Amino acid sequence: MASSLISRQLTLSLQKNHRLSAAGCRYVSKAAAKTQVEYDYDGPLMKTAVPGPRSQELTKQLGEIQNVGAINFFCNYEESRGNYLVDVDGNRMLDIYTQISSIPIGYNHPALLKLMTNPNNLSTFVNRPALGILPPENFPDKITESLLSVAPSGMSRVQTMACGSCSNENAFKAMFIWYKNKERGYSSPSDAELNSCMINQAPGCPDLSILSFMGGFHGRTMGCLATTHSKVIHKLDVPSFDWPIASFPRLQYPLEEFTRENAQEEARCLEEVEDLIVRWRQKGKPVAGIVVEPIQAEGGDNHASPDFFRKLRSVARKHGCAFHVDEVQTGGGCTGKFWAHEHWAMDDPADIVSFSKKLLSGGYFYRDELQADKGYRIFNTWMGDPSKNLFLAEVLNVIRRENLLEEVVRSGKALLNGLYELQTQYPSVLSRARGQGTFCAVDVRDAETRDRILVQTRDKGVLLGGCGDSSIRFRPALIFKEYHAHILLNILNDVLAQNK
Ligand SMILES: Cc1ncc(COP(=O)(O)O)c(C=O)c1O
Repeated sequence: MASSLISRQLTLSLQKNHRLSAAGCRYVSKAAAKTQVEYDYDGPLMKTAVPGPRSQELTKQLGEIQNVGAINFFCNYEESRGNYLVDVDGNRMLDIYTQISSIPIGYNHPALLKLMTNPNNLSTFVNRPALGILPPENFPDKITESLLSVAPSGMSRVQTMACGSCSNENAFKAMFIWYKNKERGYSSPSDAELNSCMINQAPGCPDLSILSFMGGFHGRTMGCLATTHSKVIHKLDVPSFDWPIASFPRLQYPLEEFTRENAQEEARCLEEVEDLIVRWRQKGKPVAGIVVEPIQAEGGDNHASPDFFRKLRSVARKHGCAFHVDEVQTGGGCTGKFWAHEHWAMDDPADIVSFSKKLLSGGYFYRDELQADKGYRIFNTWMGDPSKNLFLAEVLNVIRRENLLEEVVRSGKALLNGLYELQTQYPSVLSRARGQGTFCAVDVRDAETRDRILVQTRDKGVLLGGCGDSSIRFRPALIFKEYHAHILLNILNDVLAQNK
């Protein structure tokens, strides 16, 4: 089955017969240069409402086994290609949500399928090692070729992990270990520390904290959840830590038109951060680290300026806290730079940058000082997945070969300009269009209208996601071109006309 899929996809990629049809261009959009994503489909194609009958049947079947409350529909990943996700009822949708922003170069990319046919890679796909104790011979080379080739400035070390939450969870541990080692003067822990940690008591389990921001999202595991403040559903009924939570700037858009007001808002939040750090030290729960997203994603696509982040970094340094930038959602090129925090041009790099999603597994880059002092302190069984590393190296080749970051800037501009036009056209429905690269969002007048718009655009063949209270987020793959932006904007225009 897999090999027939591979040969079929490779043949398709050679046929070059999937040109964009200009059908359905009702939106005000300008004629877009129709460059070609070779293995892409030529547009959405809907056969049923979504979820269709087969999806409903499967949801019922799975419902006998587990909770299916979050399932949208079932997918046919064999038939999905490029920017298009195909469901089990044969509906083909332009995917601008990309598995919660985690598909870097579209579905069934020929370069990735080709990797699967290389016999030299077979052992990496078949044997999953416990990387922390028994890594394969090629691991240092492969990690250098993939992750280290995109290491953020100031970082030459990376710890691989499996997903976003476990990357952040372990990054937090690294910050706590660093903080305590610094405090102890790098001497051995005392007997009291060694004994008390076994029963969850101080001094071995110290009352340290991580400062996070209201609206932030850093995952759903216990430690991460204490820094997640986006939605109640994630947090309810789960015990948590008394850690400080600062306000994240609530900016006005477009940013260029509100520089003075936004600078005031950012100054207010920075003052609050310093105040919280002092108060938590006084409470006996010093802040070991500050964690922040470059753009708060799940919490509503909230932006802040480079100046805010540079100042936040200085506050962290001034108070001896580690500075952790969570690039799980923003990393991998969607903002037009490989890392969103590159837009800040920091002189003093972050201490930790965590990643996952578009980088296909997870982990965190870190400065030398943040290296744990002993094996097993940062550890789990798999600690990543070398097969995902193989794919990542190829994804990075495609990004470079096809200049995909430039494409993101180009298609992002078309997308954001289109959103500005739509918000002018439908002022009672849309506001606060914002974005960097293709990482864009717009607010809808209320949650109910937003949710209805998401369903209606999906029924017309465009898959979008929500975020925050009433925002729509746009998270296309890096192969999303200007003409895809125009397909999306046309359909969104039609749907907005129904919701005036
Ligand atoms: C910024 C950020 N951090 C962490 C996570 C958690 O990642 P995962 O869902 O892979 O655990 C997410 C997931 O959406 C995220 O957006």
